[in-house]
Amino acid sequence: MKPLNKVIVNKDTSFNPIWIMRQAGRYLPEFREIRKDNPNFINLCLNDDLSSEITLQPLKRFDLDAAIIFSDILILPYGLGQKVEFEKNFGPKLGELNLNEIAKIDEIDFVKKIHRVYKAITKVSLDPVLGNKNTIGFVGAPWTILVYMINQQSPKKNLKKDFFKDKFLINKILLIIEKFLKVHIKNQIESGADVIQIFDSWAGLLDEKDLPNYIYSPTLNLVNYVKSLNVPVICFPREIKNYKEFCDIVKPDAVSIDYNVDPKKILKDINIPIQGGLDPKILLTDKDTLKKEASKYLDIFKDHPYIFNLGHGVLPETDLNMFEYLIKTVKNY
Ligand code: CP3
Repeated sequence: MKPLNKVIVNKDTSFNPIWIMRQAGRYLPEFREIRKDNPNFINLCLNDDLSSEITLQPLKRFDLDAAIIFSDILILPYGLGQKVEFEKNFGPKLGELNLNEIAKIDEIDFVKKIHRVYKAITKVSLDPVLGNKNTIGFVGAPWTILVYMINQQSPKKNLKKDFFKDKFLINKILLIIEKFLKVHIKNQIESGADVIQIFDSWAGLLDEKDLPNYIYSPTLNLVNYVKSLNVPVICFPREIKNYKEFCDIVKPDAVSIDYNVDPKKILKDINIPIQGGLDPKILLTDKDTLKKEASKYLDIFKDHPYIFNLGHGVLPETDLNMFEYLIKTVKNY
């Protein structure tokens, strides 16, 4: 059995597998080397030779238990024909959203545009470097994808005042997003992904009253869909106001927590396997602090199925020695 399945499916508490969000990324010199010659980020994701190589880069260096495929949640709007670019020191920039154009896209057009992501997944899952480790596929949650498609950039702290103005448009787009997220999930699994993580990076922007419509209901549909394909599903509803309510309603196989979540409280509140939590900024301090903070999570979750990870992606300025020290700390615990 693969390491994440032992914890998520078998509820094994005898060890803590570890993988790190954004483990394939800018803190690695070998990634920056490839990135330097590939200024177009989406094209890099769609180059299956390079994206499979990038996916495996962290596993060649470190004793990680899973590969997460090098792609992006915004590959979905790209596949739907919306322009998606990444600008240095700014982040994603999306083009105008044209409902008429998007409504015309069918499954074949969509898969044609992004099929090389699936090729990369197959390459990774068959590579000897992966061995018996997990291949994690992922999608953005419908709400987070909707935010980017309408807002056309990261919303930072707030949504535009008129975000919900056109309810008709929003509801139409949400249905289209949901349909193609299922297509994207199915193709990733058929290509070799054996765990799916759903990133809801902007769950924290919503008032409680809007959670059922924009988070619980669409995410529950996706979670049930992944379960129907017999693959474990991890949800990361970052900064959502009530993780317990989210887990009670959406029932993912495991939940990933952000660094503002009190680990002791969540341990009391929910009984599904837990992942993550440690603040990525702790990796910018020193080894003693890192060991102390990582051990805090390991101590609290010692009798609970727990996958080690951070509370958000690893920061680009992270020192490789600190990254390695974190993995050793978890492995030697
Ligand atoms: O290693 C991995 O985790 C796998 C690959 C991965 C990327 N993005 C690669 C990436 C994954 C799982 C994502 C998810 C993603 N993408 C999320 C959800 C997680 C989160 O961070 O909340 C979101 C919101 C995005 C959208 C996105 N992509 C943003 C906001 C940015 C710019 C911010 C940044 O870090 O520069 C990206 C770019 C991006 N996606 C990079 C990587 C490695 C950096 C690209 C580069 O400039 O080299």
